[in-house]
Amino acid sequence: MSHYAKIVLDELFGIDNFKNEIIWCYKERERVLNFYNPKHDVILFYSKSGSSNRTFNWRGACEEFSEVTKAKFKYVDEKGHYQIRGTNTQGSPIRAADGLTPEHEKKYPGLTYRDYLEDRPGVAPRDWWTIPIINKAADERLDYATQKPEALLERIINVSSNEGDLVLDFFCGSGTTCAVAEKLSRRWIGCDLSRWAIHITRKRLLGIENCRPFEVLNLGKYERKYWMGVTFGGKKEDDIQMVLFQYIAFMLKLYGAELLTGMQHIHGKKGRALVHIGAVDAPVTIDEVNASIEECLGVDQKELHVLGWEWEMGMTPYIVQEAKRRGVKLLLVTIPREVMEQQAIEKGDIRFFEVAHLEVDLKTYKGRKVTVGLKDFAFPYADMIPEDVRDKIKKWSDYIDYWAIDWNFQNDTFMNGWVAYRTRKERKPLLKSDTHIYEKPGKYTIMVKAVDIFGNDTSQTFDVEVK
Ligand SMILES: C[S@@+](CC[C@H](N)C(=O)[O-])C[C@H]1O[C@@H](n2cnc3c(N)ncnc32)[C@H](O)[C@@H]1O
Repeated sequence: MSHYAKIVLDELFGIDNFKNEIIWCYKERERVLNFYNPKHDVILFYSKSGSSNRTFNWRGACEEFSEVTKAKFKYVDEKGHYQIRGTNTQGSPIRAADGLTPEHEKKYPGLTYRDYLEDRPGVAPRDWWTIPIINKAADERLDYATQKPEALLERIINVSSNEGDLVLDFFCGSGTTCAVAEKLSRRWIGCDLSRWAIHITRKRLLGIENCRPFEVLNLGKYERKYWMGVTFGGKKEDDIQMVLFQYIAFMLKLYGAELLTGMQHIHGKKGRALVHIGAVDAPVTIDEVNASIEECLGVDQKELHVLGWEWEMGMTPYIVQEAKRRGVKLLLVTIPREVMEQQAIEKGDIRFFEVAHLEVDLKTYKGRKVTVGLKDFAFPYADMIPEDVRDKIKKWSDYIDYWAIDWNFQNDTFMNGWVAYRTRKERKPLLKSDTHIYEKPGKYTIMVKAVDIFGNDTSQTFDVEVK
């Protein structure tokens, strides 16, 4: 694909900023194919500024890389030159002089293995690199189909940036770029449209010793507003009412409800239930739900479905109990992001699910100590799980992949105070937190965030008072 990618990148970065094509050679098991075995990938190298002020630390990188190689292959020889100790793809031991011609030996005395020609400190970098792909058993392996070895990103980041510089990966996947940038003391931004990729990246970063704090941000409402504009947008500024109306009609149709007019908060009806649709660019608020309940009662109806993209903090499950007390059966339904995908709509792939919720066991002890235990997790998508996986799921906690606590939630960013998550070695997430000790007595809001095995977040707040 690289020739197609290059044409797009030339347009994006400017053809003059194209510096070189780098061939990344990796060693992989021999495969029998009809054509040549694929043993390399292509890296297209662009730089933003002219040669005078761009970063190109090649000497450092070569030295850095030899450190990595050293760690991986434990090579040593009497003269201190590199040597791979191991077996080649046929399983026979690699000989030190494999592939070397007498001229090579003259030119690079002591050189031991042809693929490592370039990795000698002090030798100018070549535009072909040999870096092995990730070993199946390696700690960094996350089973991402196209996962790159950290050694490859280490080289790229070391060569093209300095400590404190900003590194960006628009398609971060399992987070290799972010993890390496973090380890090399660079600042970083990673993006991905897959919730799961973001989640894997988050866990990977948390596993790095002394990882600096980072935030997980959701494009959320910006993307949705854009979608609403392009999908229902009228031609004039003052068409906003029309856009809103179309948005509501569209949602009702997807939800299988009919449009009802003449009410303020109630937008539709599905069977016996009245339906309220939350705004595209704001969380559904407690006031909004209460107003809808009020309207329901006003027309003597006892069932209400509220559809929302996001929910005001602390709303669930409290509001459902509150509605019940007032005689209304309330269902909170999350609008799936697939409604923004025409293809998913055409395929009939849109499914609405009740909001997931957590039950916790909050304990306070003398000395301003608090622990949080996970007690239950209502998982609404159970029937979407393939049967063979469903059989393996025995209890609610099997749905939890990660959970975290912010001990003093301030209504803005979630601050990880304590986390537990599954790793390859530890398959079960701990269900009880460590003890947290508050410095001062008072009332605090604890926020618990759980991520299920599909990468969906569920967050809930709980109040606590310590004396
Ligand atoms: C090949 S993987 C990235 C691998 C990663 N750089 C690494 O080395 O581990 C590509 C990622 O791009 C994401 N992706 C695809 N299209 C995207 C888009 N339009 N915006 C953001 N992410 C996208 C996919 O979800 C996938 O995780």
